[in-house]
Amino acid sequence: HIHKSSQDASFWVANEIAQLIRQRQKQGKNAVLGLATGSTPTKVYDYLVQFHKEEGLSFKNVITFNLDEYYPMKADSVHSYVRFMNEHLFDHIDIKEKNIHIPDGTLDKEDVRDFCKAYEEKINTAGGIDIQVLGIGRTGHIGFNEPGSSLKSKTRLVRLDRVTRLDAASDFFGLENVPTKAITMGVGTIMAAKRVILMAWGEGKSRVIEQSVEGEIRESVPATFLQYHENCEFIIDSAAASFL
Ligand code: GLP
Repeated sequence: HIHKSSQDASFWVANEIAQLIRQRQKQGKNAVLGLATGSTPTKVYDYLVQFHKEEGLSFKNVITFNLDEYYPMKADSVHSYVRFMNEHLFDHIDIKEKNIHIPDGTLDKEDVRDFCKAYEEKINTAGGIDIQVLGIGRTGHIGFNEPGSSLKSKTRLVRLDRVTRLDAASDFFGLENVPTKAITMGVGTIMAAKRVILMAWGEGKSRVIEQSVEGEIRESVPATFLQYHENCEFIIDSAAASFL
């Protein structure tokens, strides 16, 4: 879907999420959301907060799983995705704390593998992800699945691509401060979601959007794997669509 602006597009995505939540409420069931960080989804979260405050949309039946977190990363750091999610969404809605899941950047290295396994199990126990929201990195990464990630990959510790670290450098006040690793859901974890919504705004994403949508499916651009997904939409603005 090509929207005129990221504002319009974000409103559309927020409505899709709200519809799912309301539908599940009527059925007395939970809605399971896979959530992303970065600048791309922030307007979607703003709209969800607005729907909560102005229309009384409740998140009591919502279970969330975030895609990724830098490693190592303290939860209270300004750079943590825990902090990001609290500031942009969780602090402003009525979600139950026990229903929020974010990869843990504070673990000891020897505990990471078990944590990742348990993360996958929790997603399965929750009934799988109903809607997975994604951004995209300039390397074609989804979550932090950098070039070379395999189609079947699951939640794991990964090494970040230099381009990704360069893109994050200004946020961290210098490349040397950007973590070299992250914990991320795998491509396989994302592929198992019932519906995937990838968003991208601006000309800077236009090349990678063209490769992901029209390019051959390959490990060097992990987002191309989404071409295999049966219920995946790319929601982009006109600038991100300029090479299509
Ligand atoms: C980070 C996140 C990704 C996100 C990407 C794009 O690397 N881990 O999930 O999609 O950045 O960021 P932005 O939305 O700021 O362009």
